Amino acid sequence: MQLVVENAAKMEELGEKLAGLLKSQDIVYLTGDLGVGKTTLVRGIARGLGYEGKVTSPTFTLMNIYEGKFPIFHFDFYRLDEESELKDLGLEDYLGKEGIALVEWAKGSSLFLPEEALFINITLVDDDYEKGRLVSFKACGKKYEEKLKELKNLAGFSR
Ligand SMILES: Nc1ncnc2c1ncn2[C@@H]1O[C@H](COP(=O)(O)OP(=O)(O)O)[C@@H](O)[C@H]1O
Ligand SMILES: [Mg+2]
Repeated sequence: MQLVVENAAKMEELGEKLAGLLKSQDIVYLTGDLGVGKTTLVRGIARGLGYEGKVTSPTFTLMNIYEGKFPIFHFDFYRLDEESELKDLGLEDYLGKEGIALVEWAKGSSLFLPEEALFINITLVDDDYEKGRLVSFKACGKKYEEKLKELKNLAGFSR
């Protein structure tokens, strides 16, 4: 399922809608090149969960935690390609906890992560950073398929 999102403000709105469907222990993976809008979408999700502070890509720290309706674990594995580093971080520990995991990563990286999740891939429209973004959703697992159906009703999908 794909949706064209015209600007950054609308990207945040999409995130807020998505937030309404997320429950504790959910996992969302966001893939796409640097500067494509992953963090913008995460910011919308965090806003939708009641967090009003700063949301920036944790590129150097690997993870930020925001306090919303429940804890939001914001990871960015863009520069991470060593599985051992991932183990050091203890992602598994966070995934078992109360809270949701929003994970930015580079498409094509072969990290070992849970497969059941909502996958969101973002690309540029017409290869132009000044234009909108094409946001593609894929659900893996029944729980996420249900969420995607609900989101489809909320968000006017183009196809
Ligand atoms: N749907 C959109 N259309 C146009 N520009 C966008 C959109 N979403 C985000 N942006 C802009 O793209 C830039 C990079 O966004 P960011 O979320 O930091 O990307 P990433 O986390 O993928 O590196 C920001 O300047 C942001 O305002
Ligand atoms: Mg980012």
